[in-house]
Amino acid sequence: MPATAIDIATYSIKAVVAKQGGTPSITRTALMKNSSGLGFPKDEMQAEKILKEVDQIFHDHNLPKTDVYLSLPEEVVSTKVIYLPPLSDAELASAIDWQAEQHIPIPLNQLTLEYQVLYRPPKKQTDQPMRVLLVGTRKNVAELYSDIFVSLGIQPKIMETQAFSIMRALGFEESDPTTLVVHIGADNTQLAIVDKTEIKLVTNKKGGGTILTKAIQQAVTNVTPEQAEEYKHTYGLQTEQLQGKIAQILMPALNPLTQEIVKTLRYFNNEQPQSPVTRIVLAGGTSQMPGILSYFTQQTNLEVLLAAPFAGTNGEIPEENQQPFVVCNGLLMRKNSNK
Ligand SMILES: Nc1ncnc2c1ncn2[C@@H]1O[C@H](COP(=O)(O)OP(=O)(O)OP(=O)(O)O)[C@@H](O)[C@H]1O
Ligand SMILES: [Mg+2]
Repeated sequence: MPATAIDIATYSIKAVVAKQGGTPSITRTALMKNSSGLGFPKDEMQAEKILKEVDQIFHDHNLPKTDVYLSLPEEVVSTKVIYLPPLSDAELASAIDWQAEQHIPIPLNQLTLEYQVLYRPPKKQTDQPMRVLLVGTRKNVAELYSDIFVSLGIQPKIMETQAFSIMRALGFEESDPTTLVVHIGADNTQLAIVDKTEIKLVTNKKGGGTILTKAIQQAVTNVTPEQAEEYKHTYGLQTEQLQGKIAQILMPALNPLTQEIVKTLRYFNNEQPQSPVTRIVLAGGTSQMPGILSYFTQQTNLEVLLAAPFAGTNGEIPEENQQPFVVCNGLLMRKNSNK
């Protein structure tokens, strides 16, 4: 039976339908502009608006409703890798709530917390930290979110936080160099470091393609939002186009993200000098902007590559605009790899 993976996000709603087994075999991809602009509901009224959008994409694209995999945005599920002095399971269990309070931006009374030890150093090496993955879910928002689907007669089979889907879609292998993944959407950017298939660090930052379009709107007189979006897509960060005028507008708007990347690299390379990051992989809709690869190469002096979101799939693969589907594809791979 085909499964449908769905990613509700601020710019667009994406769905991929695929037959399961070994490699997902894609039969349909659907992308619809999200006219509510909401990636998750804060209350019943917002849930109602999102419901209309979800209903429309299922209807317009005739998406199967039996096996639905749902992506959860970071506002609903917050993921973090924390470093602690080595603790026993019992010690960790009693320390974990306090740790969550420090690292997960969800109040404890609204939080469902799961955690997993990623690495515990050997007994003799007490100077090494242990690494723990925290996954916090905002209870009330998660309920509003899944209720949207239940009202449409859909019982999501799997709900998973975006960061995990993205990592799976990118198919890391033991032999890969330590990599910083930068997944840039419209309103959100995920940064994650992967070392030998293990997630070592993951953070979510506000900001993405929308602020870039707004920067053009503010800087160019009499430009409509649609024109600003078109300038961004056509010229992007290319300094040789339009005498670099659009690039000059976009660079300052991209600066907070650039700084965040530099800071993350510095922090990680300091913590783990034995396996420093040697390359960056860009994904998400904004990674398709012209000139963005060479811009980040210049800013970081690292090799910067564009992700191949459909590499682990076959079937009806779209020829253009592939990056927005990375989350859906990772979700579809989950059943097969079971992790
Ligand atoms: N070729 C392109 N050049 C520049 N920007 C692009 C291009 N294609 C898509 N984008 C931008 O990518 C963003 C949409 O990407 P994506 O679909 O990953 O976001 P989203 O998942 O809807 O948002 P979020 O997850 O942040 O809520 C938009 O800001 C859009 O303008
Ligand atoms: Mg997104």
